[in-house]
This record gives sequence, structure tokens and C-alpha cells, in this order.
Amino acid sequence: MSDALDKLFKRRSEARLGGGEARIEKLHSQGRMTARERIDTLLDPNSFEEFDMFKTHRCHDFGMEEKIFPGDGVVTGYGTIDGRLVYVYAQDPTVLGGSLSETIAEKVCKVMDLAVKNGAPIIGLNDSGGARIQEGIESLAGYSDIFLRNVMASGVIPQISAVFGPCAGGAVYSPALTDFVAMVKNNSYMFLTGPKVVKSVTHEDVTVEELGGATMHSSRSGVCDYAADSGADCVGYVKKLLSYLPQNNVETPPRLATQDTADRRAEELNAIIPDNPAEAYDMKNVILASIDDRNFFEIKQDFAPNLIIGFARYDGRSVGIVANQPMHLSGVLDIDSSVKGARFVRFCDCFNIPVVTFVDVPGFLPGTAQEYGGVIRNGAKMLYAYAEATVPKITVITRKAYGGAYCVMSSKHLRGDINYAWPEAEIAVMGAKGAVGVLYGRESRGQEDPAAFLAEKEAAYQKKVANPYVAAQRGYVDDIIEPARTRFRIVKALGMLQNKSDSNPMKKHGNIPL
Ligand code: HXC
Repeated sequence: MSDALDKLFKRRSEARLGGGEARIEKLHSQGRMTARERIDTLLDPNSFEEFDMFKTHRCHDFGMEEKIFPGDGVVTGYGTIDGRLVYVYAQDPTVLGGSLSETIAEKVCKVMDLAVKNGAPIIGLNDSGGARIQEGIESLAGYSDIFLRNVMASGVIPQISAVFGPCAGGAVYSPALTDFVAMVKNNSYMFLTGPKVVKSVTHEDVTVEELGGATMHSSRSGVCDYAADSGADCVGYVKKLLSYLPQNNVETPPRLATQDTADRRAEELNAIIPDNPAEAYDMKNVILASIDDRNFFEIKQDFAPNLIIGFARYDGRSVGIVANQPMHLSGVLDIDSSVKGARFVRFCDCFNIPVVTFVDVPGFLPGTAQEYGGVIRNGAKMLYAYAEATVPKITVITRKAYGGAYCVMSSKHLRGDINYAWPEAEIAVMGAKGAVGVLYGRESRGQEDPAAFLAEKEAAYQKKVANPYVAAQRGYVDDIIEPARTRFRIVKALGMLQNKSDSNPMKKHGNIPL
């Protein structure tokens, strides 16, 4: 027995070395962790159970019979984070650049299938040179098998991707199909084709960082939800993210104890709206003042900052927050912010996370760039997402709610459950200036003092229409609330809605305007 055990331990030690000590050293010298180190940092101590440590590739072409590494280029298994079950796979860049073989795909698919069957999140730690070139079509087949599982698991279990190194070619689409993507600044990059191919096709000179680095993807393309400063920071982000989520689509998120009292007043909110309606204020201060312990977990912070999204808690209950940000583009809705908001609302709806929406929106952004880019089609995504969502939806209009953007931002008409407005809210088709220009523009030109005439009409419009009372008279807002009591009102509403049940008509699936 002892010989057999010695052999087992020896083979395990060999497998744990992946592509060998030299390659591990190279990785460390670049400030990067190995696949196993990433898993160890992610999971609770000693909780990892590994599968398929001895599995090897079956390729005999291009000298591959000489390049056999036990476990091939991925480490897979399960463990716990904060005591909750998760499945994990970590690509090993020390084995043939972490390239994806048929065998690796089989290992990844095995943990994905287990994750779905057992209703627990799957976390992919990516670092791969893409399809294993020596295997050709078998590698492509492997990718396709993973993609199919990503799609089938979508909306069933949370799927999270962290990218620690290269993620090129076919490697990008699995993360793209998952719910959240975190990357590491200056160490990870994602692109379909690298700088050399780009140069040969479009004659552009571009570095890997410019083409697909974490900063680019978190601020311009929107592919990445968080650009981490280091591998450890990236792992920390994934862990914290999970704390807001349920294990699967039939559970609710864990409720955490808090010392922050439900009826805490936030006096500063009574004075946060500037006297000048054109002046901005920071909506993040509204969010921070109302949530538990000022603890806000923002998503896509640098992409479309005119809309804020993220997770928070009210009296321990996890919620998704969506809020217009007057500090950027006056909080207007545009293509990027609509796509950002819509995807987030749909995620929350998949996983039974109530949505709290703070509204201060002057409308949709006008202009040729937006129209040519499809602001109609993209803005409709946000409408679609709010309308189909059946989770509890609570809305607070802090200031402006104009035009189509009023309808979109979780209005009563899209099945908002509880809709509140602050006393200075203006709910109207458009701002007073624009409205008066349309209604009285021609008439004003015949006046002795057109500016004074328009100013008078503007004041009358403001008084009659641009306030929360018209909407309150019709029941489109349920109450006009004191800003300082926003937290308490949201906490109470969430409690009241905790057993909410609503549904959509039976269908195969809807046809969201993509
Ligand atoms: C097979 C690969 C490989 C790959 C790297 N290696 N990528 N083997 N298939 N895709 C091997 C190298 O030959 C080398 O083997 C070892 O991994 C380490 O590679 P290095 O280049 O020495 O390391 P490094 O400098 O760290 O660069 C890593 C890398 C680079 C950035 C990943 O190797 C790279 O750019 N690889 C190719 C990326 C690419 O073009 N992928 C697209 C594939 S096509 P030895 O034995 O010498 O140590 C694709 C389409 C799929 O993915 C579509 C599906 C839908």
C-alpha cells in the first residue's frame, strides 16, 4: 500500500507543477499567480476539491506526444466562498499557454454541468492563448461545448469570469456570455485578433493594452465590469460580488445582519437638491446615505458613468441599484447607459434581486451620433428590461423625470411596485424651457418683449406641470416623501414586497431589441 500511496503522492506533486517550475517562476516574475494560487486565494482555506488532475490530452500531431502535462492546461473542481458552494475552473498558462484542448473543454464542461445540476455559481479564472492550434477542429468543438453550456446556464446560476492574462480568439466568448467579467490592469487583455492581425487588416498600430486591456474594456467597450489593480484585487472583487447573489435562480440572496438602523434619517438629503435646476449634485451621495453602512458595490464604474449601477443592501436585503448620475451628461440616457442598465436589470430579475431606481433624468441624449448608433433600438432595451422584470421594483424620483426617460426609469406604467417622488421632483413631458419654446415660440415673436413673455409662460408651466403632484393625483407616484426618510421608506417597501409574485405571459422567450 505504501508504494501505491507514494506513487499517488508523487503523481499529484507532478500534476501540481503544471508546465513546470521554470514557467511558474516566469509567471511569478511577471507579478502573476499560478492557476492553483488563484484558486487558493479565491476559496475558503482547504475547501478545494479537485477533479481530473491526471487527465491528459489525446493529440498525436505536431510532436504533441512529447508534451504531456497531467491535468492539461486547466485546474477544475469545487469549494466554498464564505461557506457557500461554488464551482471553479482556472486555466493554467504554464501548460502550452493555457490553450484550450478537447480535454480541457471536457474538464470545464464537467464542472459547468455539476454547477447547474447542484444550483451553485460557476467561476472561471481565465488565462489562455485561445484554441490549441495543434488540435484544430477538436479545440473549436470544445469551445462550442463550453459556449452552449454558458447559454444554458444563463439565468439559472450566476456565472462569473475573472481574466488574469491573455484571453484571445475563441477564449473571449465564454467570458462574454457570463454575467460579470473582471480583469487585471496591465496584465490581462481580451481581443478577437491581436495587434499583428489588426495591423495587417486595418493598418492600425495598436498595443495589446490599447486594443484589449482592462482599462479599455472597463471604460469604452463595456465588456469588463471591474478593472482590478492586481490579481488579488480581482479575486477580492469576485468574492464580494458573490455575497450579494443567491446561489441560483430559485433562491433569494442571503440577508446579512447590519447595525445600520432601518429608520435612520439622512438629514443631508433634505438639502442635496441645488436651487438651480441646471446644477448637478452627486447621486452617489443619495445612494450612500440611504443604503446599509454606506456600502455600495458599484459595477461598470467607468463605463457610461451617466448611469450608476451596483449592489447594496437595505436592512440586510440585497438589492440592485440603478440611478441616473446628474454629474455626468446631466444624467441623460444614451446608448451605452441604456445597454448598461438593461443588462443589469435583467440580471437582477433572473436572480430574484429587487431593483431600486433613483431617477433624475432630463431625457434621452439627442444628436446624430446617438440616432445613427441606434439610440432607439438601444434605449428600447432599458424599457424592455424594466417592463419584463417581475422582481420588486422601487423607484424614487429625486428631481427630473422627463419624457420617454420618465417612462423607462421603472415608472408605475412598467409595473413599478412602489414609486416615490421627492417634493422638488419635476415629472413632465419635457423641461419648462423646451416646452414653452414649442408651445409659444411663434406667439412670442409677436410680443413686445418676447423674452419676458416666454419667462412668464415658463413659470406658469413649471407651476402647473413640472412638479410631483400631478403624478401623485393620478397615482403614478404612490407618495411624495421627505428625502431624509428615503431609507426608511425603501426598507419598509422591500419588506412589504418580500413575497411578491408576478409573472409574464407564457412564451418561448421574448424578442428584446438586440
Ligand atoms: C498551442 C500554444 C498556444 C496555442 C501558446 N502556446 N498559445 N500552443 N496553441 N494557442 C504555447 C507556445 O507554443 C509555447 O509552447 C507556450 O504555449 C508558451 O507560449 P509563449 O508564446 O512562449 O508564452 P508567452 O510569451 O507568455 O505568450 C503567451 C501567449 C502567446 C500570449 C498566449 O503564446 C500567444 O499569443 N499565443 C497565440 C494566441 C492566439 O493566436 N490564439 C488564437 C488561437 S485561434 P512551448 O512548448 O514553446 O513552451 C482561436 C480561435 C478559436 O482561438 C475560435 C473558437 C470560436
